Amino acid sequence: MEIQLWREILDPYQIAVDELITKFNHIIASYRNMGQYSPIEKVQGRVKTISSILEKVQKKKIELDRFEEKIDDIAGIRILCQFVEDIYKVVELIKNRSDMIVIDERNYVENAKPSGYRSYHMNIKYVVETLKGPKELDVEIQVRTLAMDFWATVEHSLQYKYKQNMPQALRKQLLEASQSVSDLDCGMSEIRDEIMDAQNSFNKKAGIVADILTNIQNLYKVANKREILKIQDEFLKVYETGDLKQLERFHKELDIISEGYRAQSLK
Ligand code: GTP
Ligand code: MG
Repeated sequence: MEIQLWREILDPYQIAVDELITKFNHIIASYRNMGQYSPIEKVQGRVKTISSILEKVQKKKIELDRFEEKIDDIAGIRILCQFVEDIYKVVELIKNRSDMIVIDERNYVENAKPSGYRSYHMNIKYVVETLKGPKELDVEIQVRTLAMDFWATVEHSLQYKYKQNMPQALRKQLLEASQSVSDLDCGMSEIRDEIMDAQNSFNKKAGIVADILTNIQNLYKVANKREILKIQDEFLKVYETGDLKQLERFHKELDIISEGYRAQSLK
């Protein structure tokens, strides 16, 4: 097949990957903007390379002109979560969307593959608009924890290195490591509430500080310099205490001061 033809076929898959990455990133941002914990930590995506498509065509004895219907992971999205519980939240989130139609799912989180591989797989139909009109595509979404991802990445490179001939001892070690990853995920789940609390208060604090700084910056346009310097000094003192309650109080007071200036400027 000519390179130009490959490009034409694969382009819509790139659109799908780009759009889906953007959509999942917006989900992360929506949670964080509301000061909430996001079940999605990170999202990645890729379009299968031509050489990797050819490899699969050969391995699975697929007729080359039917590769699009026979290979369902030409477009791939990987969603990384902090905790196992988050995986199921993400799965529900995807099922509830009208733009992603789930046609198949496989829970390798509960039922690990013989290799020790764990992840939640979903195959969806996703429509992209192309120059020739709408096109419905298959996309594979893998949802896994950061720990599962670490294991899968390492195991994948070893698989690549040894092809079908991975030494039995190494296989066994990987299987044991997979159990350790599963234990780690369980351990993390036990302290999930505590970790989420810490992250929430960190995010909340970052949000308040950003708000205060914007407020002070706006005051430069309306207040006199002496007053601004006084406010800045006080902010630094409160900031140094590291106390969220004090920061919240300062934030409110500053809001009232800013509101006063705004009212004055409207007179
Ligand atoms: P494919 O023909 O590869 O699509 O197999 P399938 O349709 O049965 O899908 P499956 O759910 O088994 O796996 C698809 C993808 O999951 C692979 O392309 C890998 O990215 C990943 N995967 C599956 N098994 C393993 C494994 O043992 N190790 C690693 N590292 N990744 C795996
Ligand atoms: Mg597949």
